Amino acid sequence: MWYNTIIGTDISETKKFLEQGEIVGIPTETVYGLAANALNPDAVLKIFLVKNRPHFDPLIVHVSSIHEIDNYTTHISPLAHRLMRAFMPGPLTLLLPKKKIIPDLVTSGLDTVAIRVPNHQLTLELLSQLNFPLAAPSANPFGYISPTNAYHVYDQLHGRIPYILDGGSTEVGLESTIVGFENNEVIIYRLGGLSIDDIEYVTGKVKLQLNTSSNPKSPGMLKSHYAPKKHLIIRQLTELTIDELKTKNAGAILFNQYIQNIPTPNQILLSEKGNIKEAARNLFAAMRQLDNSNVSVIYTIPFPETGLGKAINDRLRRAAVENK
Ligand code: TXA
Ligand code: MG
Repeated sequence: MWYNTIIGTDISETKKFLEQGEIVGIPTETVYGLAANALNPDAVLKIFLVKNRPHFDPLIVHVSSIHEIDNYTTHISPLAHRLMRAFMPGPLTLLLPKKKIIPDLVTSGLDTVAIRVPNHQLTLELLSQLNFPLAAPSANPFGYISPTNAYHVYDQLHGRIPYILDGGSTEVGLESTIVGFENNEVIIYRLGGLSIDDIEYVTGKVKLQLNTSSNPKSPGMLKSHYAPKKHLIIRQLTELTIDELKTKNAGAILFNQYIQNIPTPNQILLSEKGNIKEAARNLFAAMRQLDNSNVSVIYTIPFPETGLGKAINDRLRRAAVENK
């Protein structure tokens, strides 16, 4: 099926396509999603086909408010409740025991379902007008950089989907933080737009389980993921030797300071002010920009490990893995 893809801001048009079992691009505060009626396996199947996504990689279910979560999970623990009240709507996904109404295709046969309430006004309005939740992964081909505006989605998926709901550039810029529970302990499976510090403030100490094996619990945790096509190299500033840079047509993604020996137009500062949230917001667009430019290699540096810096470094490490 080939579509004349439209980018627009029409909620009723978006709703119409979703009710017909089509898939559409939607904005969230983290990254753009590729959404389908989560209760309709035929519609959900289209997501896997368009993204070229393996079936073992489950999807996140998006709902309009925390009150709706009860419809899809058999149990909400007091800890989960506390997190929901503190951070939803927001960049947090909870893994909860699933009810039968959620198709196995959505959860890849797991007995938990990933649920979140996205904090974006257009999408919250859309969700409140629908009588089903939306399954939505990031709207990029599997393994590539997540889209942070409607044009990123268009560039890669035009012709494959009928509509992209344009909600501007995303506010957070990194995917949601994925949190599960084991024996009353909070486990972080994917670093993301909600920092560990913020979570620990509410729950106390958490455990990190960021899988990098070939059979990950959360495939966003695959060793290579979120990756540009070009070679990305992480180096301490002091390790960047002049010779190395001069022999290559290099580009760079940096925090708040340019470096010498790379042409300034090939360098992108993620936050001139040195604000880590702003850096997170700009990261994926910068990776795309250099991936689509004429540089042959992209250098980057380790970011400060404060706040969202941990998640930025996580994405950079996965983007830097070779043999993708
Ligand atoms: O910010 C986000 O979370 C964005 C926006 C669109 O909401 N979505 C997103 O989806 O990043 P996706 O599909 O790119 O990543 C979802 C991750 C995958 O790594 C998947 O393996 C994990 O969530 N996941 C989903 N259900 C799971 C489950 N039941 N158990 C463990 N991991 C799960
Ligand atoms: Mg993704």
